[in-house]
Amino acid sequence: MVKDGLLITFEGMEGSGKTTQIQRLSAVLSQAGYAVCVTREPGGTPISEEIRGIFLNPNHNEMESTTELLLIAAARAQHVSEVILPALDGGKIVISDRYSDATVVYQGYRCGLDLNLIHKLNRIAAHGLSPERTFVLDLPVEIGLKRVQQRRSAMNRLDLEDFESHNRIREAYLAIASQEPDRITIIDAEANVDSIHELIKSEVDDLLRTKGVERKL
Ligand code: TMP
Repeated sequence: MVKDGLLITFEGMEGSGKTTQIQRLSAVLSQAGYAVCVTREPGGTPISEEIRGIFLNPNHNEMESTTELLLIAAARAQHVSEVILPALDGGKIVISDRYSDATVVYQGYRCGLDLNLIHKLNRIAAHGLSPERTFVLDLPVEIGLKRVQQRRSAMNRLDLEDFESHNRIREAYLAIASQEPDRITIIDAEANVDSIHELIKSEVDDLLRTKGVERKL
């Protein structure tokens, strides 16, 4: 599937600073004349945002792992076909706050669901679309959780899980990054916000040059 645009994703545990870095990258790319689409998972469309509400509702303690996986897959199928593919067809740089790696980490490593099944479902839900580059913002669990507690007005269902679960998530991101070093870049999220931005920007600049993505303005 050849597309004109480019899909870049951000991953990492809660409190890792993804949102700030996505905003900074989006601003600098827009200023440089690129058409940018910022989106998130689960979410990004009205249907997928409704699914997000069900998925993250802190009252849904009884949610089963398989239910999680199918909700996420449904949200992604809608998101990819309604938002991501049309944006890529239009030559946009799509920046998604989480994507299919999160399913491998959260529903695979965290819940213990079969990784082959997850990869298969990811391919179906994502219409075979993989990110060109993924930035994983990594930091110690205790620091991430402290940031979340300070920032969020209400904790969501996954924020409220125990330390062990969050630690499994961190380790899983590091593991999948080591399996795909050409696509996934690990970033030290404890570093200064400006220096993280510069690092991401320079990798994205290289990528845009290599892929020949055109400026729109
Ligand atoms: P966030 O917007 O703070 O990143 O919250 C989204 C939550 O959803 C986060 O805890 C990770 C979780 N999630 C999954 O469990 N599986 C997935 O495939 C995705 C995209 C997110």
